[in-house]
Amino acid sequence: MCGIVAYIGPKDASPILLEGLQRLEYRGYDSAGVAVVAPATKSAPARLRVCKTKGRVADLAAALPARFKGSVGIGHTRWATHGVPSDANAHPHTDNEGRIAVVHNGIIENADELRAKLAADGALFRSETDTEVLAHLVAAHRAEGGELEDAVRAALKLVVGTYGIAVLDAEQPDRIVVARNGSPIVLGIGEKEMFAASDVSALVRYTRQVVHLEDGELATVRADGFRTFTEDARTVTRQPSTVDWEVGSYDTGGYAHYLLKEIHEQPGAVERTLSGRLDERFATAHLGGLNLDARELREIRRVKILGCGSAYYAGEMGAQLIEELARIPAHSEPASEFRYRNPVIEADTLYVAVSQSGETYDTLAAVQEVKRKGGRVLGVVNTVGSAIARECDGGIYLHAGPEISVASTKAFTSTVVAFALLALHFGRIHDLSPADGRRIVAGLKALPDQIREVLGQQAEIEKLAAAYADSQGMMFIGRVRGYPVAREGAQKLKEISYVHAEAYPASELKHGPLALISPELPTVALVPNDELLDKNLTALGEIKAREGRVLAVAHRQVEAKLADHCLVVPKSEPELDPLLLNIPLQLLAYHAAVALGRDVDKPRNLAKSVTVE
Ligand code: G6P
Repeated sequence: MCGIVAYIGPKDASPILLEGLQRLEYRGYDSAGVAVVAPATKSAPARLRVCKTKGRVADLAAALPARFKGSVGIGHTRWATHGVPSDANAHPHTDNEGRIAVVHNGIIENADELRAKLAADGALFRSETDTEVLAHLVAAHRAEGGELEDAVRAALKLVVGTYGIAVLDAEQPDRIVVARNGSPIVLGIGEKEMFAASDVSALVRYTRQVVHLEDGELATVRADGFRTFTEDARTVTRQPSTVDWEVGSYDTGGYAHYLLKEIHEQPGAVERTLSGRLDERFATAHLGGLNLDARELREIRRVKILGCGSAYYAGEMGAQLIEELARIPAHSEPASEFRYRNPVIEADTLYVAVSQSGETYDTLAAVQEVKRKGGRVLGVVNTVGSAIARECDGGIYLHAGPEISVASTKAFTSTVVAFALLALHFGRIHDLSPADGRRIVAGLKALPDQIREVLGQQAEIEKLAAAYADSQGMMFIGRVRGYPVAREGAQKLKEISYVHAEAYPASELKHGPLALISPELPTVALVPNDELLDKNLTALGEIKAREGRVLAVAHRQVEAKLADHCLVVPKSEPELDPLLLNIPLQLLAYHAAVALGRDVDKPRNLAKSVTVE
């Protein structure tokens, strides 16, 4: 959602902060700011300097005064929650004297109440944000004496809500105090220098040694080390771990955009999701992290999948795989809806939370709701050690590698692959035959090469995207296995190209949306070569009869009288076909967005990790 970065050491902080913010920009990009402590001079004591602006990190870099020097500093890139994007609402926020600076991710729920009290005591509020409350609170406690960390602890005791924060004090420039509750903070350990950030991506250029704070923990970070402690000032010991993702994973690696790079990374991502998990001998999958044995799995009568956005659509594909391979009723629901409808939690239902980031607040809240009511939750998560992963009873890590572009592609595909493994494992415990198990194992093994084959059609897809991009809208249709593909395809197109797109089951066309069909509203039709092929072709005939244009994504050439264009993708096993049918739709959305001049990796109004309600 928002990004935090902090530095303390011998170097000039602002270039390091700017570089970190650039790497975090995918998390939020409506405004950005930095604060450093300018060292004392003969004539003046050390003082805080703040520069912040509406817009991108590049705008901040341009706005930064030439002599913005200081070797301790904090920075932030924002995605507005409280108050519009503006210079005033951008972080860092400061107290009246401009002595304390705070950057914050998350939401202070009792901000209004605290604000009223602080204002009555003389605090001058200059923004509409909840974060500014923290700056004034810390300043009020610092005025009582003691150390910065004591003031931060005291302030946080009064706060209800979620936060990841970094706090700077001009009078104690030998330290930065950070704290975490529901919004990640990670420390980076360097040589006589220390870093902190909301996400390792901001740190990997400088260090691989990191320490993840737990909820309810704070840390005092100094150039030569750190100390972690609880809100009650109890010291806790945290061992550093080593980040294993390659530094290159955080660069565009020669591609025009992260999105294109991540689309092309899919064969490798799928290989990693499958790695060590296929069991040819018993024609099943090994999933070490489920924490459920075969007997417990046999008792499960239903599967409920929860996720938001593309994670929810990946869950729809997952539900289909589980029903088909294991014959257990399975259903995917938006976590954002589920958590608010007082859901019935059943003892013999397995709940599965899906999240690339492992931070999406709605999904986390849904997991907590299930657990509060005594349900069992597995996580299908990409980010190791993330909040959702930690909250779940067990699960499957995707190992897809970091995904930076806001629209999910490789994590989506890896999620569906993880569900195929889960469905295979479930199926083989139930009634899936060894022959069918072998068929799925072979199908999964073939996927990376088949994805490469689809990616090889990029030039053709680029031409088609240019031809369709100026449409007033697009219809996506698919039937049964093809329907979640249509939904994800429509989602991808709308989120990055802003072309209106609707997804419908092909079977429902004649019950309403056929009225929309005209030469101005083309249809993307998923036409797998399965038992529903004839039915799908009939739907195409209905569209062509209304002069609709059709782009078919099929397993073999669809005749010209039924489709204006056809993209042929390799055939997998029928249950796995949706995975491959989805890949050309990612490239279609990407090239349509590029043709329309969109900001592909950072679409308007969206953010990568939505850590607020
Ligand atoms: C945001 C992003 C979507 C993403 C969704 C779920 O809305 O813009 O692209 O699918 O969050 O994210 P998650 O990290 O939980 O998979």
